[in-house]
Amino acid sequence: MKRKVILDCDPGIDDSLAIMLALSSSEIEVIGITVVAGNAPVEMGYQNAKKVLKHMGRLDIPVYIGEEKPLIKDFVNALDTHGSDGLGESFLPQVIDQPLLKSAVDFFRESLHEQSVSVIALGPLTNLAKLIETDVSAFAKIEQLVSMGGSYKAHGNCSPVAEYNYWEDPEAAHIVFQQMKKLHKKIHMVGLDVTRKIVLTPTLLEYIKRLDEKQGEFISKITKFYFDFHWHWEHIIGCVINDPLAVAYFLKPDLCQGFEAYTDIETQGIARGQSIVDAYDFYKEEKNVYILTSVEVKEFFYFFLERILHLKREELSYLEEIFKGETA
Ligand code: BDR
Ligand code: CA
Repeated sequence: MKRKVILDCDPGIDDSLAIMLALSSSEIEVIGITVVAGNAPVEMGYQNAKKVLKHMGRLDIPVYIGEEKPLIKDFVNALDTHGSDGLGESFLPQVIDQPLLKSAVDFFRESLHEQSVSVIALGPLTNLAKLIETDVSAFAKIEQLVSMGGSYKAHGNCSPVAEYNYWEDPEAAHIVFQQMKKLHKKIHMVGLDVTRKIVLTPTLLEYIKRLDEKQGEFISKITKFYFDFHWHWEHIIGCVINDPLAVAYFLKPDLCQGFEAYTDIETQGIARGQSIVDAYDFYKEEKNVYILTSVEVKEFFYFFLERILHLKREELSYLEEIFKGETA
């Protein structure tokens, strides 16, 4: 039976690539996409999710609008990173429709009480924190929770110590991490230690285009701005695509390695949004998180390309050339 999944996201360039990967994976059924304020304001994120669904021919998948701002802090979008339309200034045509009236949190609540569902969270954790506040028993039913966010040893991307998703709504992240501890469960934290290694380079993009013009052109359009951003701010030629790794890890956990630890999110001051990973068990708290620390980069790209291009591994042999001399 297919595992059922809700993608909670803030599309977002890399969120869009993650949606594409999830929809190209036949062992899961994406029962809905929930949008949260993050990279883009929530209405824009909703439109972007629709644009990606249209590109994938999957407008049948329901999209629910979620929280429009963090629990306590002011909303700070990341349009400087994702472009003024949140999708790399691709300015794809709007998808005209009537947004569903049910909120993201209501959709979570109903689905989780009805069936076994996992959640892959690719944005700030505001929707999930609201679910905890309003119906903790529904939250408790999440089969597996994977969250792209935080960092262990890697430096932050919003401050020296904080990753964007947890920095944006640290109170929400704190609530979710603490609730997982209370439930004796573990959140799978796909943080910058591993996602920063997933760099879509011009060579990889060119290869994608040569294998599949339509998919390649779409990815090119939405990532061009992101390439420029990375050159300007990170001095790399290419762009870090964080979110697809969370989906890939959910589908193929052996792509990554990690360890269990008690982890909490700092909400205040200079360390706002930092994920504090108690790797040496100072606090003697129950381990509530599985922290990813390493990833097989080449294997990720085999997996990603196999799925989104519907190709077999043997048909992707040029990846060996691209990754020649590189170690994971
Ligand atoms: C995360 O923040 C967003 O910009 C990306 O979509 C990703 O989810 C990386 O810090
Ligand atoms: Ca995201």
